[in-house]
Amino acid sequence: PIEKGWVANHLHQYQGFWHTTRQLQAVLACRRHFQAEDSDILLVTTPKSGTTWLKAIVFALMNRDQYPNNNDLHPLLSENPHVLVPFIELGLYIDGQVGDFTTFTSPRLFGTHLPFVSLPDSVKNSPCKLVYLCRNPKDTFVSLWHFTNKLRTNGIGMGTNSLEASFDKFTRGVSLYGPFWDHVLGYWKESLENPDRVLFLKYEDMKEQPKVQVLKLAKFLERPFLLEEETNGVLDGILKLCSFENLSNLEVNKTGKLASGENYKTFFRRGEVGDAKNHLTPQMIAKLDRITQEKLHGYGLKF
Ligand code: A3P
Repeated sequence: PIEKGWVANHLHQYQGFWHTTRQLQAVLACRRHFQAEDSDILLVTTPKSGTTWLKAIVFALMNRDQYPNNNDLHPLLSENPHVLVPFIELGLYIDGQVGDFTTFTSPRLFGTHLPFVSLPDSVKNSPCKLVYLCRNPKDTFVSLWHFTNKLRTNGIGMGTNSLEASFDKFTRGVSLYGPFWDHVLGYWKESLENPDRVLFLKYEDMKEQPKVQVLKLAKFLERPFLLEEETNGVLDGILKLCSFENLSNLEVNKTGKLASGENYKTFFRRGEVGDAKNHLTPQMIAKLDRITQEKLHGYGLKF
């Protein structure tokens, strides 16, 4: 029997990655039932790598002709990005749901935290596009710790593990959808082998050069920006609409909740690069840096 809830101390390893019981049930159901379409776009991350931001940007980018100047009718102004771009396993197959796709139009946009190895066969065998966004492990860990131990309440968080205990687990690869490094490498390797299929992005690059990254994203998704869109403010408008400041201050994201009762505001904390140094000791930082260097050695990927 599998108990309900996101129980921190009952993580299960499946295909080399760690899942809560509830999450694993959803992963299995999704693997069994999800049917990819050739035009699907999957936005993939490890938890707390900028999923909410990526979902907003891709939604805005793909729907930009429908909502000129991000007018008042823009769905991002009244809906949380996780509603507009649901997770396949955590949204459409969670808690025994079977995936209702009736409201989707093509190209369908989905999010997922599934590691590459665990993607449904229908995704692996289809030409649908995958966008992978990763974030440096130090900030990802700090964000994850806040999310699961501080921000989330009523049983959806992981409990009240100390920063030190969570850190120890994270460094040993035991975290939601972890080991972090294996998750990242799975998609990194795929992006090198199939660059038309997998686009690999970094949160830090998005913060530093948002325009460059979004232009790259648009080209990859075959919706490149016309020169006039770059000059007449369409690109700037998308970046502004999807910025941390804007999204986190929208009424829907300040007061809205997921169907499960969790507040949308838990997805917005600081949204900055380098916050880890405010929470981790120099020793912890050195340890994570060393592990990251070891794990990524020889793959041509650096944080
Ligand atoms: P911090 O906890 O470091 O602030 P995810 O969306 O994958 O759950 O990741 C959440 C992290 O992304 C949080 O990081 C959150 O603040 C940050 N974030 C959310 N929206 C963002 C945005 N529009 N721009 C940049 N960062 C954002």
